[in-house]
Amino acid sequence: MKIMVVGGGGREHAIIKKLKESPKVEKIYALPGNGGISQDAECVAIGAKDIEAIKKFASENKIDFAVVAPDDPLVLGAVDALHEVGVKCFGPDKKAAIIEGSKVFSKNLMKKYSIPTAGYEVFSEPEKALEYLENSSYPTVIKADGLALGKGVIICPDFETARDGINSIMNDKIFGDSGNNIVVEEFLTGPEVSDLCFTDGKTIAPMVSSMDHKRAHDNDEGLNTGGMGTIAPNPCYTEDVAKECMEKIFIPTVEAMNKEGRTFKGCLYFGLMLTPNGPKVIEYNCRFGDPETQVVLPLLKTDLLEVMMAVEDEKLSDINVEFSKGAACCVVMASKGYPQSYDKGFEVTEEELSDNAQVFHAGTALKDGKIVTSGGRVLGVTATADTLEDAISEAYKAVGKVHFDNAFYRKDIGKKALAIKNNQ
Ligand code: AMP
Ligand code: GLY
Repeated sequence: MKIMVVGGGGREHAIIKKLKESPKVEKIYALPGNGGISQDAECVAIGAKDIEAIKKFASENKIDFAVVAPDDPLVLGAVDALHEVGVKCFGPDKKAAIIEGSKVFSKNLMKKYSIPTAGYEVFSEPEKALEYLENSSYPTVIKADGLALGKGVIICPDFETARDGINSIMNDKIFGDSGNNIVVEEFLTGPEVSDLCFTDGKTIAPMVSSMDHKRAHDNDEGLNTGGMGTIAPNPCYTEDVAKECMEKIFIPTVEAMNKEGRTFKGCLYFGLMLTPNGPKVIEYNCRFGDPETQVVLPLLKTDLLEVMMAVEDEKLSDINVEFSKGAACCVVMASKGYPQSYDKGFEVTEEELSDNAQVFHAGTALKDGKIVTSGGRVLGVTATADTLEDAISEAYKAVGKVHFDNAFYRKDIGKKALAIKNNQ
């Protein structure tokens, strides 16, 4: 089969490497892909948001199956466009992708269907928001309604921070129209868990749970980033917690979307906080997480293409989605200065890695036949092993074999998870 994967980061590289394991896959195109991905797929210079060009390419090249991985094209309706030209896809249509595309939508959905989440208020006028925030207790949380490159959430320790946040989101429009409305949300506490689920709107197949590390530096210090590393499974996500989440959150969410006439098919990402009052939804994403995918998919034992096709055909109940009992760790190697300014264009070299390690490229380009850095997050170095402890040490061993100038990475990915696990 001829497959097309829309996107060009570490998540897409992990998806492509997994799809290549399927005996059904003959050819994979990546739109636009990246330097590292070009070693595993044919990269085509079409941007992930260029819906018309994506549609035209799929139709002209007789693509048998498409995977739309990033949030932007999903929210813009890439799956609807591909369906119009008869291309089968993995990913929600525009009506369902709103679960990530609008926080006002997702908060109202949770309220309407009694799905546990933080209490909240919605504002469309900055003056009203400020009036409310003057009388709020702190800390509190402000969220831009629409997509904001993962930067639309501001945790406010005091009114001054909240006022500056409202100004930049609603008046200065730093996220454009995504800031036309905002959500002011109750501040929750507790360990965070990411759980990604395959769903066809009828059956839900949860994937192995994971833990992201969002801050730039060790001990969760420094600025928020797109994610500096992940481990799976997340030791906080015990069988009891998983059962509770399935009953109180996953099933009610999928049923709520059906009732709203917005059946969700694809990967539904639950960002959860395990609060003293039980698990609550922090965010929904309408897609695979990045860098969660880089630890989740290496543990998937079932043929990914078969699972994705079953989701599209609404036959997920026919498939037994299995994960290995082991663990995985992904350490992101970034460019010094990320998430602020950084230099690019340094050559990336790799010594031979052991069989249990893989390098997923996020920000690399091909230049004169060499792989060079082209982004802030450059690589996700992942290892799998029987235990979390070994997965972490193997991932760091692999990091020592990958080189580029100005590289930096966190030295403590998985440390917190290991401490929790050892205390259980
Ligand atoms: P999001 O972009 O929605 O994933 O939010 C980014 C991060 O902000 C989350 O991973 C949490 O650590 C934090 N966060 C979001 N909402 C809340 C909340 N209501 N209470 C506490 N922390 C939050
Ligand atoms: N790692 C968080 C996300 O993909 O949104």
